[in-house]
Order: sequence, then structure tokens, then C-alpha cells
Amino acid sequence: MKKVLVIGSGAREHAIAKTFLRSPQVEQVIVAPGNAGMIEAGIETVDIKPTDFAKLIEFVKNNQIDLTFVGNEVPLVAGIVDAFDAENLKIFGPSKAAAQLEGSKAFMKKLLLDNDIPTAQAMTVTNLADAENAANQIGYPVVIKTDELAAGKGVSIHQTETETMAFLTDVFTKKPDCKLVIEEYLDGFEFSFFSLIGKNQVVHAPLAHDYKRRFDGDKGPNTGGMGSYSPVRSISQKVVQETIDKLVAPTLAAMQKNNTPYQGVLYTGVILTKNGPKVIEYNVRFGDPETQVVLPQLESDFYTLIDSLITGKQVQPVWQTKDVYVGVVLADPEYPKRQSGNFAIPHFTGEVDFASVDKNATDLVSDGGRILTLINHGKNMQAARQKVYAELAAINSVLAYRKDIAEN
Ligand code: AMP
Ligand code: GLY
Repeated sequence: MKKVLVIGSGAREHAIAKTFLRSPQVEQVIVAPGNAGMIEAGIETVDIKPTDFAKLIEFVKNNQIDLTFVGNEVPLVAGIVDAFDAENLKIFGPSKAAAQLEGSKAFMKKLLLDNDIPTAQAMTVTNLADAENAANQIGYPVVIKTDELAAGKGVSIHQTETETMAFLTDVFTKKPDCKLVIEEYLDGFEFSFFSLIGKNQVVHAPLAHDYKRRFDGDKGPNTGGMGSYSPVRSISQKVVQETIDKLVAPTLAAMQKNNTPYQGVLYTGVILTKNGPKVIEYNVRFGDPETQVVLPQLESDFYTLIDSLITGKQVQPVWQTKDVYVGVVLADPEYPKRQSGNFAIPHFTGEVDFASVDKNATDLVSDGGRILTLINHGKNMQAARQKVYAELAAINSVLAYRKDIAEN
């Protein structure tokens, strides 16, 4: 029987841990550092930071862990896979060099543009004058991104020249040495596409749609994600194939050519424009909250899938197609601005993946940010969302959530 270590502490890592536990080969899943809501039969937590590689390696060796799966980008960008490889420990994820695809927006943009992979036109700038010129050249609305990891929050969209100039002046006054990517606004339906890349093979998961804005009707600030559904039946197989052929495959080929071959989960953020699918971003891990609605659809063995990808054995995952899965995120009322308190966690009967929760003497309490994802499924989006919202209507909680997830 196998033991798995999952690295991270969010609802995504809770979903990953549960999926490993469904494998008949897996007897124990430990999450580092995990959270108090994850502890259940078979899922344990260990208090080690995702970036403390020495301690993680020691833990894996002392506890005979068979496989490590990294949930979030921070340890990947910091080189956890290189550190594990140096010790001959089995881990699924990209090397530090390959993780630049998410770690640096400038690196990602250059790779796409150098290889003619469809994406938004963009320029990288490091001073105010160049930033102003770039915005004017690209035109409005314009998208401005900071060149660093920002958990989905380093992006802003500006409608007019006046507003853009005020924003840029403010950014460069506060941080004169900052690096920005200024890019064309792409209009269209956005979807998340997960590919799992192993030795000599690539497999794909069902598409997911994520709701990034904080408030109903896609209003308010960008967040890590407030809800999701999967599969996305409105996107045709032809568009999926085009996404693979024109976006994912050439990106993997370019990474190979640059001597930074990619292994691990590749998250392609796609916008379906009137000129076809274009890359909006790459992430080097699964999405959150998309994972919470994608992984429950896996009917085959997750351990076999990941192990085969690492070792090069041929494998084909089996996904359900009968139902649509919907997940709604419950967050602190002040998310993403700040934490407003520690609130009681309601009891749910449906599937829950926990994120930012703590345990006081007896009960779970929220600890700011995104607290949990509530998930259900049904024969279509409406049926699934009705189940989730019926449960939310029946509880009395100050935690905040969007009311329009999977509405259309
Ligand atoms: P990112 O941090 O690059 O993942 O961007 C976060 C979100 O901002 C994306 O998921 C999109 O919803 C939105 N966004 C980013 N870039 C663009 C763009 N060029 N055009 C339209 N929307 C964008
Ligand atoms: N849900 C978006 C992300 O994980 O980046």
C-alpha cells in the first residue's frame, strides 16, 4: 500500500488528497501543512512549510512516502522538484526552470510570442514613460500585470487613458523599480484547461470555468476564484482540439527546445476570442477552485495516473461525462481586502473542501480569505447549482459567497 504527501493547505489540496485516497493502492495521505478541516479517516496533516525543502525531504525519507504531489505554485517556483530529484524522491511537478512559466509573466510572454502561440499582444516595461507609451500603443481597455506571483490578484483592467495614467503614476511612485506587463484586453469566454504532462505523454482533464471576480455579475476585484463548474458543455470538441494543437502542444515543444522540458500539471488559462482560443496565462499547477469540481470526475485511479506519468508507463484517465459539477466558494466577508474575523463554520451535508480554517477547542472557525468550497453535481448546470444553493440557503452564516455561480 502507498503513502502520498500533498503539499499545500487550500481547498484544492483537500480535493487532491481525497482523490488520492480513493485509489485502492493508497492507505495514507498526509498534507503539509494542510488545515484543520482536512483531518478525516486517511487524511492527516503535518506542520511543515511548503518551502522548507530540507524538512519535507527528511519527512518523506523518515515516513517512507512513495509519492509527493505539489498543489501550489510557490514551492514549485522555488525549486522543490529539483531538490527532490537530487535526492531521488518521486515527485510530480515542473523543475524550477520550467516553473518560470507561471513565476514570471515576462518569461511566459516571451516564450509565447517567440513561438507564435496565440496570446494577447504585450510589452514588458520598467519605467513610467515606457509604460505610458505601451498603454497608448496597445489601446483601451488595457490590462496591467505585475511580473511576480500574486495569487491572481496582480492584474488590473483599465478602461480609459486618464484612469491608466493615474494608475501607472501611482505604481511607479510607490515602487520605482517595478516591472509590469502591459497587454491587450482579450474579449471572450474564459476557461481553464488542465494538462498532465509526463515522460513521453500528455493527458487532459475536462474543461472548467472559474469565476474570478468577487461579486455577482463579474463585478468587483479579481480574486483567486469564487466558484467554478466542470465540464464546460458550451465549448465544442473542435475548440478543445484547437487549444491542444495551437496552444498546449507548441508550448510544450518550445519548453523542450529551450532545455526546460515540462513535467507536471499545466494549467492553460484560455480566452475563446472571435479569432479562436488564445492563452491568457499559464500556471504550473491545478486551479483553485477548479480542482474541486474537476478531480471528483476522475473514475480511474489517480495514484496510477500520476505514477505512470512520472515513470513513463502509458496511461489514459477515465472521466465521468454524465453530470456537471459545481463548486461555490465561501469567503471572509472582507475578502480579498482583509480578514474581518474568525467565524463559525456551518455544518454541511454536501461535499466540502476546506481551505482557511482553524480549530478552536471543539469547532472549526474561519481564518480569513477563502474558507471552503461547497460542491455538488447534477445532470446539468442548473440541477447542480440548485443543490449547492439550496444547502447555502438553509444555513445561517456571515461568510460571503456569489449567488450566480453556474447560472450561465
Ligand atoms: P492572470 O493573473 O494573468 O491569471 O489574470 C487573472 C485574470 O485576469 C484572468 O483569469 C482574466 O480573467 C483576466 N485577464 C488577464 N489578462 C487578460 C487579458 N489580456 N484580457 C482579458 N482579461 C484578462
Ligand atoms: N482559479 C484560478 C487559479 O487557480 O489560478
